[in-house]
Amino acid sequence: MPNSIAMKKHLFISALVLTVVAIVSCNKETREKNLPADTYPAIEATFSGAIDPDALENYAHQNVPDYINKDNTDGNPVTDKGATLGRVLFYDKNLSVNNTVSCASCHQQSNAFSDVMPLSQGVNGNTGRHSMRLINTRFADEVRFFWDERANTLEEQTTQPIQDHAEMGYSGQSGDPGISDLIVKLEGIAYYNELFAFVFGDAEITEDRMQRALAQFIRSIQSFDSKFDEGLMASGNLGAPFTNFTAEENQGKRLFLAPAQFNNGVRVDGGAGCAGCHRPPEFDIDPNSRNNGVTATAGNDMVSDLTNTRSPSLRDVTRTDGTLNGPLMHNCRFATLEAAIRHYNSIPANNANLDPRLRPQGNLQQLNLTTDEINSLVAFIKTLSGSEVYRAQKWGNPFPE
Ligand code: HEC
Ligand code: HEC
Repeated sequence: MPNSIAMKKHLFISALVLTVVAIVSCNKETREKNLPADTYPAIEATFSGAIDPDALENYAHQNVPDYINKDNTDGNPVTDKGATLGRVLFYDKNLSVNNTVSCASCHQQSNAFSDVMPLSQGVNGNTGRHSMRLINTRFADEVRFFWDERANTLEEQTTQPIQDHAEMGYSGQSGDPGISDLIVKLEGIAYYNELFAFVFGDAEITEDRMQRALAQFIRSIQSFDSKFDEGLMASGNLGAPFTNFTAEENQGKRLFLAPAQFNNGVRVDGGAGCAGCHRPPEFDIDPNSRNNGVTATAGNDMVSDLTNTRSPSLRDVTRTDGTLNGPLMHNCRFATLEAAIRHYNSIPANNANLDPRLRPQGNLQQLNLTTDEINSLVAFIKTLSGSEVYRAQKWGNPFPE
């Protein structure tokens, strides 16, 4: 008797397990069948495989080194879906009035998402300043954007070029259509119906949704495969010489990191003090930074512009091969890293917004760097460049060329 009860119990449990397995696998089947290949016909027709809603690129869970702690994501974390929509918007020329200019026209992946042209060409003329690299924008304490920090958040920044008369032309002023006209235009594009519904649950297009998606895409653009990262990962100590560095690169690192000691504004000891404003390991700008002594308006040396207090991260100032991704500073004042460093070597003139760190003891900073020291700083800055960010497809143009 006890045996047959045990037997029945055993059979019952086996049947139960089988049923559960059957239900689970059946569910899996219907789940997969719920997503037939033609759910997103417009996305498929437009991007022919470059965007696959069923197998998105990884934007949300990329590896970030442990030593990277700064993060300006505030309430709009990167998601694979949002960044995918952001990528489409970023590369879409429909975002300009005459369908000729996209964000990527002035922010090119092959140039660290900047432009080699001093001023970039928009739909109605040139930009007022040099285009900025969009590398590791997320990993920074400063939350304001543009050279003069006039945008309070990255989200707010993203639709300003669209609404700029010269850049993309939806200004809503002096005869330009406005952003609401752009939204109507995008509502008529089938892949946006599918993409907005995919990301937000319904197809409604708003400026806020565009901002969230564009900001997610930009925050996803990261670069941590540089020689500097290899060295820091291996040593775990920013201040120690890196074993993968040359003697020159290590000297440059030491000079970059260490503050200078001054006597009447003239350096008598220490380093070049770069890290006070371009703060490693992110090399983001110190939010308290003020003007660095570069004072001329872009395109017009006669007019001064003291408002520029932000720099993009100094990572990827140069490409993988050591050449510059574009001229330096908001007004392209310098064509080489040597020239930019010589500027700090001897700050040319005082101004009302000059950062006090560049006016030690009330005198204009004189670093007295030797040519060897300048070359070592250049060698160090070149170690901050990666390679993946220039070629990864997930940050590239999804439209067929
Ligand atoms: C016609 C060229 C042009 C176009 C088009 C353009 N940009 Fe820019 N971008 C610039 C220039 C120039 C700056 C610096 C302007 C300034 O500071 O006054 C800039 C700055 C930025 C910044 C600030 C970066 C920082 O570190 O502060 C972001 C972010 C950005 N652009 C994103 C975009 C997005 C998103 C689009 C498309 C919606 C776009 N840009 C379209 C030229 C352009
Ligand atoms: C007091 C703060 C401060 C210090 C110190 C400082 N910088 Fe800068 N740096 C800035 C600011 C602000 C900008 C952007 C200025 C502009 O474009 O008008 C900038 C821009 C740059 C750029 C150009 C970036 C680009 O994208 O075009 C380079 C290169 C640079 N700095 C290197 C250095 C080096 C090397 C040192 C040390 C010798 C140094 N900086 C020290 C504040 C500083």
